[in-house]
This record gives sequence, C-alpha cells and structure tokens, in this order.
Amino acid sequence: MSQTIVHLIAAARPNFMKVAPLFHALKSDPEFAVRVVHTGQHYDSNMSDAFFTDLGLPAPDYHLDVGSGTHAEQTGTVMIRYEKICLESRPDWTVVVGDVNSTAAIAMVCAKLHIPVVHLEAGLRSGDRRMPEEINRLVTDAICDLLWTPSPDADENLLREGVPADRIERVGNIMMDSYELLRDKIESAGTRDEMGLAERSYGLVTLHRPANVDDPGVLGQLVGQLLQASEQIELVFPVHPRTLKSLKDHGLYRKLAAGRRIRLVEPVGYIQFMNLLTKARLAITDSGGLQEETTYLGVPCLTLRPNTERPITVTQGTNRLTGADRLLEAVRDILAADPSAGQCPELWDGRTAQRCVASLKARIHHPRPSSGVSPMRDAC
Ligand code: UD1
Ligand code: UDP
Repeated sequence: MSQTIVHLIAAARPNFMKVAPLFHALKSDPEFAVRVVHTGQHYDSNMSDAFFTDLGLPAPDYHLDVGSGTHAEQTGTVMIRYEKICLESRPDWTVVVGDVNSTAAIAMVCAKLHIPVVHLEAGLRSGDRRMPEEINRLVTDAICDLLWTPSPDADENLLREGVPADRIERVGNIMMDSYELLRDKIESAGTRDEMGLAERSYGLVTLHRPANVDDPGVLGQLVGQLLQASEQIELVFPVHPRTLKSLKDHGLYRKLAAGRRIRLVEPVGYIQFMNLLTKARLAITDSGGLQEETTYLGVPCLTLRPNTERPITVTQGTNRLTGADRLLEAVRDILAADPSAGQCPELWDGRTAQRCVASLKARIHHPRPSSGVSPMRDAC
C-alpha cells in the first residue's frame, strides 16, 4: 500500500506547539509519510529553531524562507513558493494550523490546486475584523475540506456560517498535547530557579498585538500600567520582536527597563516558558495561546483585548478580558482573591493528535463525496 503524503505547515511561534504532536502521531503510523513545511514567517532562532529543538521536530523538509513584510507581501510570497512545491511534488493532504498569514495563504494554494486541506484550530471567531487573524480564520475555514475544532463554540460558529456539518470534527485543543508530551522536561527545567523566582511570586507578561504595541499612545499607557503593577508583584516579560522594535522606536524601552521589579528578557523557548508559566501567580498577555494554556494550568490570566476568539477560556477557564486603562486594577483584584482553578474544557486532554490521525484515516478510507455546494443561509 502506498503511503499518504501529508504536509504539515509551520510558520510562526504559535504554530510549532500545534504541529509537533501531530507530527509525532503521524510519524509513528506507517500509513503516512509526513513532511514539515516551514514558511519562514518567524525566523529568529528564539522564535523558531528553539521550538523545533524543544518539541523534537526535525529540520523542515521544505523551507519557504518568506521572512517579514506587509500582509500582502507575506501572504503572496507564501502562496507563490508553496504552489511551486505542490506542482513539483504534490501532497495527498495538507494540514494548516492557527490563524497567521501563512495559514490562509497555504489553504488558498491547496484549494485552488484541489489538494485536500485540513484546518486545525478551526472555527474560532472574535467577531473583530480589524484583527488580521480574524480575516485569516474566515478565509481558511471557508475553503478547507476538513475543519478540526477545539471547542463547541467553534462548531457553532462554523454551522452558523453555513459550513456543512460533515466538514466539522471536534478534536480538542492540541496545545495541551505538547504540554503533556513535555511535562516532565518542563517540570524539571531550571528556568525559575536560575532566575531566582519563587513559585507564585511573579507575573508573566507577553504582548505583541498590533492594537497594543504599534500605537505609541496605547503602548505608553501599557508601559505605565506595567510599571505600577510591578510594585504589586514582580513581572517577567519576554519581549516579542515586534514589541521590542516598537518600544525602541517610541522611546519607551528605557522607561520600562528601568522598572526595578520588571525583568525584560529575550523571547524564551517553549520548555523554559512553560516552566515559568506553570508556577506564575498570574499572566498578563494578548496572546491567543496563553489564554488557553493558563486555562489548562489554572493560572489567572488577564488578556489585554476587548474581545477574544477563545470565549471558553473566560466562561470556563481563568481568563479575564481587560484594557490598557484598567490593568492595574485587574492585577490588584487577582492578587486580593484566592486563586480559583476554573474548569478545563472538554477534550483538552493531551489526546487531540490521536483524534486527528483517526479523523484523517476515516476520510482517506471512507471519503465523503462533496458537492462543493454550501446550503442556502437564512434568506433576508
Ligand atoms: C504573527 C501573527 C500573529 C501571531 C504572532 C505570534 C500574522 C498576521 N500575525 O504576528 O497572528 O499571534 O505572529 O507571535 O500572521 N520579527 C522578527 N523576527 C522574527 C519574526 C518577526 O524580528 O523571527 C519582527 C519583524 O520586525 C516583523 C515583526 O516582528 O516585521 C512582525 O512579525 P510578523 O510575523 O509579521 O507578525 P507578528 O507580530 O509576529
Ligand atoms: N511562548 C514561548 N516563549 C515566549 C512567549 C510565548 O514559548 O517567550 C509560547 C506560549 O507558551 C504559547 C505560544 O508561544 O505556546 C504563543 O505564541 P504567541 O503568543 O507568539 O502567539 P499567539 O498564540 O498569540 O498567536
């Protein structure tokens, strides 16, 4: 029997911990020949290579080397370079993850070449089309053949948009698979000890959304609030390259770095980061992935956004939305309350990759004919 060739697409930091568990699960199944395609959207070693090492991913089979650029440049370059690979060596299936520019670009190439394509982490919606990720999610989900969702809200969003039910399969949250695969290494990593951080004595900060870090007014307000919050609790802040650039461009870096109880560090690898996160007293973030990891770990999370595509982390988990003007107050509230663990959403159990493989096999062995026609939505 010939093997099914599957391309797994990795592009940016939040993709690697979603791709790795699926890579390992497919690799151990002789039915599949798995190839890793790195688009090169993130390229600094601490935004990319460090994750390949931590997560046991091999060097990519294909590297598109697209680098940074405007949205159109990045999306277009990924499309041009991936199309060339597909024309030379066509995969049987391609899997895209998350919501970055590369996700939508690869899905478009596959849809036009009639290569079956799956979206892992499908159906999430913030309803905020000013965020580039929301556009990427809408485009990707509209054209993928199979949609693997993490939560019931995602299923409902897709059904409401008119996606046929037989394209949707709830598999759970694959980020938890990465955590469980590396739990021992994360627990034994010495990151906290090396930094002299006692358990639950510090907050962990990440920021990179354009709405928070590109506008000097908002970024300045956040810097002020973080400095004040650090008087309540020590803060550790691995600074994303977009944020570093903006802090420096707007003359805010020195002000923040001068904070006595705030430590600015380079972005850290997955194992180190999770070692810090598991025992943090709280997280302050605008990351998508962190909202989910804090819910899984029971760490209180303040998300600096007016909305979230991950509402289950608020309704069931430990996440709370806040704004740049209310951060200090929100930190005080958390520190004054007993930590409450929240609930872990269904199927966030470390076995999502297994369910993905089973789903793929079912599609390969029992293909469902698609008419390519979506049912009529409510007439208006
Ligand atoms: C991207 C994703 C975002 C995701 C985030 C995760 C899009 C539209 N955005 O945002 O959804 O949450 O990654 O971190 O796909 N840079 C470096 N080195 C790198 C990568 C980036 O210096 O390895 C700098 C460059 O100045 C670049 C800037 O960061 O212009 C932004 O990078 P880009 O990938 O365009 O967007 P992110 O903000 O990282
Ligand atoms: N992360 C990491 N090191 C860091 C910051 C984040 O390993 O310095 C991990 C984090 O645990 C999560 C993922 O990166 O698994 C989230 O990536 P990011 O916040 O860049 O993207 P988003 O999830 O917002 O798309």
